[in-house]
Amino acid sequence: MSRLAGRVALVTGGLRGIGLSCVERLLDEGASVMIGDLADAEDVDLSAYGENVDYVRLDVADEDAWTNAVASIEARFGRLDILVSNAGIGTPCALREETLENWRKTIAVNLDGTFLGTKHCADLLAKSGRDWKGGASIVNISSMMGLIALPKGGPYNASKGGVRLFTKVAALEFAEDKMPIRVNSVHPGFVATELFAAFPDELKAFMTSSTPLGRVAQTEEIAAVVAFLASDDASFVTGSELVVDGGYTAK
Ligand SMILES: NC(=O)c1ccc[n+]([C@@H]2O[C@H](COP(=O)([O-])OP(=O)(O)OC[C@H]3O[C@@H](n4cnc5c(N)ncnc54)[C@H](O)[C@@H]3O)[C@@H](O)[C@H]2O)c1
Repeated sequence: MSRLAGRVALVTGGLRGIGLSCVERLLDEGASVMIGDLADAEDVDLSAYGENVDYVRLDVADEDAWTNAVASIEARFGRLDILVSNAGIGTPCALREETLENWRKTIAVNLDGTFLGTKHCADLLAKSGRDWKGGASIVNISSMMGLIALPKGGPYNASKGGVRLFTKVAALEFAEDKMPIRVNSVHPGFVATELFAAFPDELKAFMTSSTPLGRVAQTEEIAAVVAFLASDDASFVTGSELVVDGGYTAK
């Protein structure tokens, strides 16, 4: 499939989990991909992924790191058509035990990181986006926890709800400014990442049985939706929230 041939994507948090599946899917569809993650470049081996992928160290909560990442993308690929803001963290904790330090860290990565990516990539995205019917595309990975609450979700739910509404602000602003960038959020339900595999059986059973489709998602099922939003198949889709939760929030 070459739906994304000629396009360049940045995937944050792309070294594992949902982010890595997005990298693989975007490459499969013909895009070149820059991965931004926390590892040092010398520790990252991408030889299995061919010529069209590269890596830049990028802590999404660090504004200077974004300046460096955008310069690296421009130097390596000369353009940017797709930003997948996927890097995210979260640990369950009761509100009365939550620390301000952890609250701020979660908001910094999940919400500041999404804002900084949008801000620093916008000019390059707009320039590249003029080459496509559907323009450039920002896909922000929120969560079904950005739509509904669960106890012990404090900063995670707050940040993901923030990502949802920030996405809509960016979509409207770019449309108003005639910048060819669509901006959408994706809201995964429970996903079978490495973390899920290590969960206690009881928690795994809850996640499976509480999802109407009777299973958790594979990371590839989230990546497929990201690739759709990145492509011209979604050329009239902006400001939307795409829920990929096996029916969880339909209840
Ligand atoms: N796994 C799920 O069930 C699930 C459900 C809904 C939403 N999500 C969201 O999907 C996204 C990916 O989740 P995942 O489960 O694949 O996570 P994961 O923990 O498996 O991978 C996250 C990646 O992000 C990187 N990362 C963390 N902090 C970073 C930072 N400051 N800067 C750059 N990179 C950073 C990590 O190094 C890692 O490679 C997250 O935003 C998460 O909130 C996950």
